Amino acid sequence: MSTHSAVVTASVRGPLEVIQVPTIKPSTGEVLVKVEWTASTPLDLHQNDGGLLVQHPQVMGGNLAGTVVELGPEVKNLKIGDKVRYFVPTTLIRASFRHVLQVFGFVWREQKEKAHQELATVPEYLLGKIPSNVTPQAAVTLPDNFATVFHTITTDLGLPLPWPRPTPAPKHAHSPILIWGGASSVGQYALQILKYYNYTNLLTTASPHHHELLKSIGARAVFDYRQPDAPAQILATAAAAAGGVPLILDCIGSQSGSLAPLAKIAEKGNRVAVLLPVIVRDASETEAPEYSMDVGASAAWKEGVDTRGVRTHFYLEASLNEIFKEKLQSEIMPTLLGQGIVKPNKYRIIEGKTLVERAQGAMDALRRKEASGERFVWRISE
Ligand SMILES: NC(=O)c1ccc[n+]([C@@H]2O[C@H](COP(=O)([O-])OP(=O)(O)OC[C@H]3O[C@@H](n4cnc5c(N)ncnc54)[C@H](OP(=O)(O)O)[C@@H]3O)[C@@H](O)[C@H]2O)c1
Repeated sequence: MSTHSAVVTASVRGPLEVIQVPTIKPSTGEVLVKVEWTASTPLDLHQNDGGLLVQHPQVMGGNLAGTVVELGPEVKNLKIGDKVRYFVPTTLIRASFRHVLQVFGFVWREQKEKAHQELATVPEYLLGKIPSNVTPQAAVTLPDNFATVFHTITTDLGLPLPWPRPTPAPKHAHSPILIWGGASSVGQYALQILKYYNYTNLLTTASPHHHELLKSIGARAVFDYRQPDAPAQILATAAAAAGGVPLILDCIGSQSGSLAPLAKIAEKGNRVAVLLPVIVRDASETEAPEYSMDVGASAAWKEGVDTRGVRTHFYLEASLNEIFKEKLQSEIMPTLLGQGIVKPNKYRIIEGKTLVERAQGAMDALRRKEASGERFVWRISE
């Protein structure tokens, strides 16, 4: 049996380790991907330091970018990376280039498909082709949170995002929608995707140095979440357009940092979707984190506020949106990325001589809360 290296969380708050795991031959509809890049996510920290949804030792990693190296039976849209020949138009000299088909995707369900390993066995519907104008390091910042935004907006906020996008403006095109935490990875993708679908009244919160960026990608107004009167400012801005803020997406899920101020904003009939887990206490170098999965009990919501806890891990369920399973990652994600409609997050490359050094470097940066408008990207295989 062939094996390859994988990064695992080995114990709660312990150092990451590299172990050998079996390489699984792709079965019907699956491909084997040589994983080249990953972007760490806060879930990695929730799992390593909080033991959230973990059985040790567990391979982690939700975002991968890499090269298809083997096809299972009946794979329809992907092929093995290969050399192709084409013309260089400026010189008209026939030249040969190595053109490798690279893919990217959000993977989370079982060990064989996870991202923090050298070889991943993944169904083709979880993979998109990386557009030729985007590097794999930039593309890998998208998958988990691109899927999160489509899932949350449709399932938890109840706004349809049809594909292809229809021409007429949607019903709530001008209703205030509050994206709390616009500089987060999810927040930036939420603004861009809602803007593309012609939602015009997007309000968001962020540190002041992100305000211009967030306006350029769709926000009508941006508020500094550290100002104690941010809820009052948001209500004053929203109320000028309509009664309150009917739809709220909390991209942070911090009990004190986002749920508490949102409880001052949300009124009866407003809907608040919170990305789980609710963080009761953040992980730090000295303290273990504490989480809750109960949004309703985590803040003093006014009566009649409709709260939801977001779980993107269910996005494949056809009852939620039947086209997402087949098209969200394989077609919608590469199309919006390739056309520049959704721009990748900024990223920082985490260097290290070995796989485990790079993985640990990214985990430590997450724990130190160094992510401000950027993702931590690191190499898996050379
Ligand atoms: N349940 C699900 O399906 C699901 C899916 C995806 C993500 N999540 C969760 O959602 C959370 C965010 O993920 P992410 O990858 O988008 O995070 P991220 O990019 O790492 O978030 C970092 C950003 O959070 C912002 N921030 C921190 N505290 C804030 C506060 N109190 N108010 C407003 N903004 C604040 C900072 O903004 P400034 O730089 O402006 O200070 C920073 O840029 C994580 O807990 C993750 O696990 C859950």
